[in-house]
Order: sequence, then C-alpha cells, then structure tokens
Amino acid sequence: MTYLGIDVGTSGVKAILIDEAGKALGEATAAATEPVRPKPGWSEQNPADWWSATLSAVDKLSKSHPAELAAVRGLGLSGHMHGATLLDKNDAVLRPAILWNDGRSSAECAEMETACPQLRSIAGNIAMPGFTAPKIAWVRKHEPEIYAKIAKVLLPKDYVRLLLTGEYVSEMSDAAGTLWLDVAKRDWSDVLLAVTGLNRSHMPSLVEGSAPSGTLKPELAARWGMTGKVVVAGGAGDNAASACGIGAIRPGEGFVSIGTSGVLFVSNDRFRPNTEGAVHAFCHAIPNTWHQMGVILSATDSLNWLAKVMGQDAAKLSGDAEAQFKGPGEEIFLPYLSGERTPHNNANARGSFVGLSHLSDPAHLAQAVMEGIAFAFRDSQQVLSDAGTKIDRLLAVGGGSRSALWLKLIATNLNMEIALPHDGDFGGAFGAARLGLCAATGADPASVMTMPAIKTVIAPDKSLIAAYSDQYARYRALYPAIEEARQ
Ligand code: XUL
Repeated sequence: MTYLGIDVGTSGVKAILIDEAGKALGEATAAATEPVRPKPGWSEQNPADWWSATLSAVDKLSKSHPAELAAVRGLGLSGHMHGATLLDKNDAVLRPAILWNDGRSSAECAEMETACPQLRSIAGNIAMPGFTAPKIAWVRKHEPEIYAKIAKVLLPKDYVRLLLTGEYVSEMSDAAGTLWLDVAKRDWSDVLLAVTGLNRSHMPSLVEGSAPSGTLKPELAARWGMTGKVVVAGGAGDNAASACGIGAIRPGEGFVSIGTSGVLFVSNDRFRPNTEGAVHAFCHAIPNTWHQMGVILSATDSLNWLAKVMGQDAAKLSGDAEAQFKGPGEEIFLPYLSGERTPHNNANARGSFVGLSHLSDPAHLAQAVMEGIAFAFRDSQQVLSDAGTKIDRLLAVGGGSRSALWLKLIATNLNMEIALPHDGDFGGAFGAARLGLCAATGADPASVMTMPAIKTVIAPDKSLIAAYSDQYARYRALYPAIEEARQ
C-alpha cells in the first residue's frame, strides 16, 4: 500500500508518494499561475489553477511511478492557509480567491473587533487581514452582489478536496485560521460566524487532520490507475502539515519555514492564545494538540522580488551574497512588501532599503534581504518568548533552506541550532501523505510523525552574534521611524 500527499502552494502543487514505512517513493510538481496583485497589498488567485496544477502533478506521478500510484490507499491534503474561496449554490467559484497575503481588509478587522468584543478570546487570535473572515467582511461591504450569492466558503485545499471527493469538509488546523473557529473547542463558533453574517450552513463540516474526510471519486481513481478505495484525510494547513512532515507534534518542537512566507512554528502543550505581538495560536493537525507561530508575509517572496527587479536569478543572487559575505553589511532591508503580521499586525506596512551607497551591488542587497528575513524571524522568536513559549528544537524547511548563508544568518540571529533534514522534502506534501496514512490505516499519529534523518546542524556563528545584535537593534528602530514618516 502507498499514500499520497498533495500540497497546494501559492506557487504550485507538489505531490509526494510514501510507502507504509513512511519512506518517500517519488514526487512531482506543477506550477500554478502566480497570484495577481490588482492593487498594492492585494493578492488573488484563480481556484481553477489549484485544480489544474493538482491534476497535472498527480498525472506526472502516474507516468513516473504508475505501480506505486496504483497502490495508493490514503491521500492527505495540505494547502496555503486562510484563502477565501467563495462558492455559489452550484459550487461555481464566485470571484478569484483572496489569499493569505492580501491586506485589503484592515478596516473590516477593526470593525469586527468592535462588533464582537469576545472575538480575540474565542478565536485565540487578533483579527488580521490575512485571515478568512475579514476578507468576507470586505466582500460584504464592497461586492454585496457576490456576498449575497455565497453558499459555501472553503479554504484552498478544501476546495481541492471538494473536487477530489465531492465533500465539503475542513479540518482543525486550517479552520483555526479563518477567525470563525472556537479554537479551544475545535468547533465553528456561531458568535464569530454571525459577525460576518454567516452561519454553519456556509461552512464545511470539520474533522481532525489525521481522520478520514471522504473517499476519492471513482473517475479520478480510474484516471490514476488506483485499484482500491482511497481514503482522503482531513489533512492540514501547510504549516501544521509541515510540522507533521518534520515530526514537530510534541511541546517545544518546532521549525523555521523559509518559503514564500516565513514561519517560526512551535507545538504547544495546550491551547495557548497570546494575541500580544500578533502570535498566531491555532489547532494542530493531530487531535487535542495546538501550536503557535509567528508569520512573516514575504520571505523567499522578498528575494524573488529583488531578483525580478534586478533581472537576475534568485539562486544566483543568494550564491553571490554568500561568496562576498563578511558579516553585517551597510544596507538594511525591512521585508514588509505585503505588509506584516508578526509582530506588527500592519497590512499597510511596506518594505524599505536603508543605508544604500555606491557600493550597494545586487549581492549586497541580496544579503540585506536575507538578513532582513533573519531579523523578522528574530522578532517572532521574541514575541513567542514573551508569550512564555520555549522552543527546544528547530528544523528548517522551505526553498530558502537550500541557502547555507541564509540558515547561518537565521541560526546566528535566533542564537539557536537549526537542523536541516537529509535530502528530500519534509514539508507540507510529506506531512499530508503521513496524515493520509493515518486516516487510511488508523495508525497512531505520534508513531508516524517522527523526525527525519538530519543532514547537518547549523550552529550560530558566535563571532557574529554581537555584530548582529547591533544590526538587529538598528532594524528594530527603523520600523517605527519609517512608519511615522509614511503617515
Ligand atoms: C500562515 C500563512 C502562510 C500561508 C502560506 O498563517 O498565512 O504561512 O499558509 O502558505
């Protein structure tokens, strides 16, 4: 028997096959059309793109690994969180999905908190524009004719689930990022739904991430040559799925994800809401577990932006930065290209380069971008520590973890060792496959979600700690000063 994990990412879909022992057998990826940004701070994507990329990634596996794909019995889904996919009563998509890094709904967040003073205590989180409910409040105000037709609101991977199984189902980790979930009770909150004029009929039903949510439609099983019944697990939002992939399910176990977004994630002993510093407190994908995280909206997205405006390749830029690296440079970068969640909760913040000179070449700017992300992770570490959370273990995931310099900058700034898993992908798709295995076999998640073999451990560079503390202090001082000047 084999198990399939599908991660619906903002830039594309990754599908990975594992065997019963959890060993990766093969993977395939398919790019999605990049999100469009119709206005500064907006970010939208067409849900049809997630579906065509999903079909194409699994089609590729059916060509490269036909026998292994035929033996699939369990499937798990992971996906970018928070995106509002609005469906009418015939399941037609009403408008492009408004994504996790879209900041248009700041005003609605403030209005929701005023209308519902218990919002933070029920949701365990601040109303932030990245979350799903404020996006609906925006649609209600600005596109009332679309709002009137909403029959269901689904998260991105749950829309893909609908097309895979015909079921409207979500699970706790992703549902926690909607602002409609009572995160302690792991159930929809009628009070929170009412704030956006919705009720339970607009929501999918809820399962745990490691529990079954439906079965794959026969025509899709036939398309991929799958011979038995395929159980589709609840799955998880991409961050909780990554945590399953690297085995971070016990208190204090965490990861740093250097992907389109940057995430400092830690599993908790219980539900630990702490809205100060824009800490996210969500359900984990495993029953009766929760986690916290700090979220940076533009991580590799910042380096990709720099590469685009320089007309260069991002991997080359980071390689050039590494080749000339001698410690903190003159330039400082604030990575707020899409605004920022942790620690500022300010969708209208914007990025900055400070300290430019005639010597500021592309490599120096790339170094400053990578340092800016490392400082942003340091901010997240600070607010998690202020919340009383201790991180005992950190693994690195995401495309940015291919850069040795970036890992060194983060380890040095967090003053913590960071472990890099052995070759292979232990991100969302792998975690989703593990959840698929649990749902199909009833295996205990704790025995499946183990830590992968570690390739190398990146230690903080002690010789740079003092210099980076000074540079971090400058970085910290810049945000309030620049915000004041921008008012
Ligand atoms: C988490 C978040 C991002 C997306 C990226 O709150 O918004 O990490 O899940 O895919």
